Amino acid sequence: MAGKPFEVVVGKGGVGKSTVAAALATQYARARHRTLAVELAAPAGLARALGVRDVSQGALAEPREVAPGLSYACIDGENALAEYLALILPVRRVLATVLDSRIYRYFVAAAPGLKELMTVGKLWYEHDRESDGQPVWDRIVVDAGASGHSLQYLRMPAAAAKTFNSGLVHRESQRILDLLRDAKRTAVHVVATPESMPMVEAAEIVEQLRGDLELPIGRIFVNRARAAAPDGAAAVLSKLLSKPMDGADAGLARVAAAGQRELGWLQVQAESIAEFVASTGIEPERLPLMRVEEFGRREVLELASLIADPAEHRQ
Ligand SMILES: Nc1ncnc2c1ncn2[C@@H]1O[C@H](COP(=O)(O)OP(=O)(O)OP(=O)(O)O)[C@@H](O)[C@H]1O
Ligand SMILES: [Mg+2]
Repeated sequence: MAGKPFEVVVGKGGVGKSTVAAALATQYARARHRTLAVELAAPAGLARALGVRDVSQGALAEPREVAPGLSYACIDGENALAEYLALILPVRRVLATVLDSRIYRYFVAAAPGLKELMTVGKLWYEHDRESDGQPVWDRIVVDAGASGHSLQYLRMPAAAAKTFNSGLVHRESQRILDLLRDAKRTAVHVVATPESMPMVEAAEIVEQLRGDLELPIGRIFVNRARAAAPDGAAAVLSKLLSKPMDGADAGLARVAAAGQRELGWLQVQAESIAEFVASTGIEPERLPLMRVEEFGRREVLELASLIADPAEHRQ
């Protein structure tokens, strides 16, 4: 189906990619889009953020419904390759022999980017999948990996299409590339946290997406953003700290010092976001830092409510 969104969430390690992917997927499912949330390599942060249980067995290639209208799958490149080979080698005995062979193991380990390519191929298959002439998914949201190498997946189809300039691999890679580069369908969302290095890294990701990757940029999220301080906070704190405090005032001094540290973080946040805006020209969306003892499904649901559906805004 033309125009069906295929969304990929990228960003450096630990910034909140899985949380944002889960919140987006949850929000789409709430808006009655049949949504598939996909995690790459092995079940981890996305499964956790969606509250998916029983993932200890490893990859769950078959999508599993985890909430009304919301399914979860984990795609592992090696499994995807085995599945693909099963299509070409339908004799099970032959297939098993191939998959067990040392040469095959060696080939999979040695071929650069093969696993990434098979993974993206499988994503493409899910995107185009139909049942009884109807598309199975309205939306696909991909959490592109815990390794911080999420762009590798997006780089592979172009590399493969170039390396193999004709034949099957070229054709398949080109089809995947056509989907990825189509701004009507694909959006790559970038997540960062409001500190100097993460924001610089996010700007670099934007630059790569605009540059050699040539991929459509979706939304930019600054996750764990602090709320603005109350008016006059800086003046009140410095007045408090200017007075010598002892004894009964020691507690007050500690609170004032903590308040000042918090203002320091707010300054870092403002400066790092301003630098990002100056270098990319994009004003990011902020998602609040949630100060909870244990970050869980409830917080993800709250973030989902804050993430409005951009398609609905456009209409
Ligand atoms: N808005 C938020 N407020 C408070 N804590 C948050 C917020 N978003 C995420 N976290 C916390 O940060 C942790 C890391 O988030 P998440 O797993 O989404 O990051 P990630 O970018 O997917 O990490 P990785 O690169 O390891 O896959 C979460 O387990 C959660 O505890
Ligand atoms: Mg993650």
